[in-house]
Amino acid sequence: MNELSPWLKSFQCPDCQSSQFDVDDEQPLCSHCGRVFECSKGIWHFLPSTVAHREGKEREKEGWKRRFEDEKKAGWDPPPELYLQLPHYPYPYYEEAAKYLKIVLKYGGPWRGKKVLELGAAECWATRHFSEAGADAVALDYDPSRMIKAQIILDTLPIRFLRLQGDGEHLPFEDDTFDCIFCCSVLHHFFDVQQAIREISRTLKPGGIFLGIHEAFNPPISPEEKSWEYTRTPF
Ligand SMILES: C[S@@+](CC[C@H](N)C(=O)[O-])C[C@H]1O[C@@H](n2cnc3c(N)ncnc32)[C@H](O)[C@@H]1O
Ligand SMILES: [Zn+2]
Repeated sequence: MNELSPWLKSFQCPDCQSSQFDVDDEQPLCSHCGRVFECSKGIWHFLPSTVAHREGKEREKEGWKRRFEDEKKAGWDPPPELYLQLPHYPYPYYEEAAKYLKIVLKYGGPWRGKKVLELGAAECWATRHFSEAGADAVALDYDPSRMIKAQIILDTLPIRFLRLQGDGEHLPFEDDTFDCIFCCSVLHHFFDVQQAIREISRTLKPGGIFLGIHEAFNPPISPEEKSWEYTRTPF
């Protein structure tokens, strides 16, 4: 229950939007609709019972699974220790991410006591760095399987952070919760970017900051050109 405790007052039920939570037998439950939130392999499940664009989101999750399976077949099967190094790893994606993370950590600090949400956290490498810098950090991803790989971080380093399966377009947090919301290469994966931005804006405290790095906003990466359209909308 430890990793949940600092967040119990900040949760918002993804089904009925109540922020009245109780704890029963170590599990949080919504006092209004009665939903009990389960945990498996260290990940707490906070997806709404009805997910918008569920089919597409599940397809993306399957896509990542297939990609990892294909890489494994091709001989790339990273040991768990690799997840301790990220983003400091000699691969172009991570080299860029490491460069930007350094700027983010410097620009957004000091981090001690700040509430930080990492959206689309996957293996939680950024959540780890925010935690090490002193933040109360929480990682959220639609796909729990990638966050399970972050267990080695929690088992090895003297830090603690919460991992939630949730939908970035429907955040299970109250208004005005976070000092900072961060994401790396995630916005362009959302099916409804405008809705995700509304949720980011709702859950940030007044004066809180959103930091997004490594985003691909140009076609043909977004085949429906939704993201392209979005770049013309200032926020
Ligand atoms: C390109 S990966 C980036 C992962 C991580 N930020 C990194 O840099 O290694 C995109 C991530 O966004 C997550 N994602 C996509 N749609 C999401 C949604 N609606 N809510 C939460 N996470 C989502 C995916 O599951 C995936 O883990
Ligand atoms: Zn509820």
